[in-house]
Amino acid sequence: MTKLIFAVPKGRILEELLPILQRAGIIPEASFFDLESRQLRFTTNHPNLDIIRVRSFDVAAFVAFGAACMGVVGKDVLLEFPYEEIYAPIDLKIGKCRLSMAGLKHAKQNDINSSHVRVATKYPKATQDYFAKKAIQAECIKLNGAIELAPSLGLCSYIVDLVSSGNTLTANNLVEVDKIADISSYLVLNRTLYKTEGHLIKPYVDGIVGALNG
Ligand code: PRP
Repeated sequence: MTKLIFAVPKGRILEELLPILQRAGIIPEASFFDLESRQLRFTTNHPNLDIIRVRSFDVAAFVAFGAACMGVVGKDVLLEFPYEEIYAPIDLKIGKCRLSMAGLKHAKQNDINSSHVRVATKYPKATQDYFAKKAIQAECIKLNGAIELAPSLGLCSYIVDLVSSGNTLTANNLVEVDKIADISSYLVLNRTLYKTEGHLIKPYVDGIVGALNG
């Protein structure tokens, strides 16, 4: 039997995804819900479908290289890792937020007009693409979290990060300068596997689309 692997992200997106999976009739085994468990791969009520739980950035890699045929990933990750092998046909309309550029409240506004800025971000490619369109060279410092600390400590003038409520920016004396992109999470498929195993994968895709519409 061909085992299909469905990669889902940990954290906030997963909380919003679970009711959709339930409506789609995809029920993971009990240990999936045990936060103490170190298990990473889980069976489901479908004998040919297993779920893996990985970091959101890693969902894209698992799907792009065919280790998973299906996944759920934020548009922020797709902007950063635009793998050709990833087909993103369905906006799940969960994990909604925005990718924004922010700076210190009292930062010199003309900083942004210089031809070179230093930016801390988890998204160096998306950041460079954004600044390149403005003919500004961005020197990106890749951080993996707590990005909002960087400007006040002089690490950079600006940050590029996800903004949802805006509370993290406010709590760190930052203001949103520009929205780069609206973000939500997509159901993604490995193009090759969707061609070769489409007859097995499509019922799950249809189930998820039905769950969104119903
Ligand atoms: C995300 C993001 C911001 C914060 C924005 O971080 O990187 O820091 O949420 O949310 P807000 O606008 O509602 O305050 P997350 O909590 O996912 O942790 P991370 O810093 O480890 O990425």
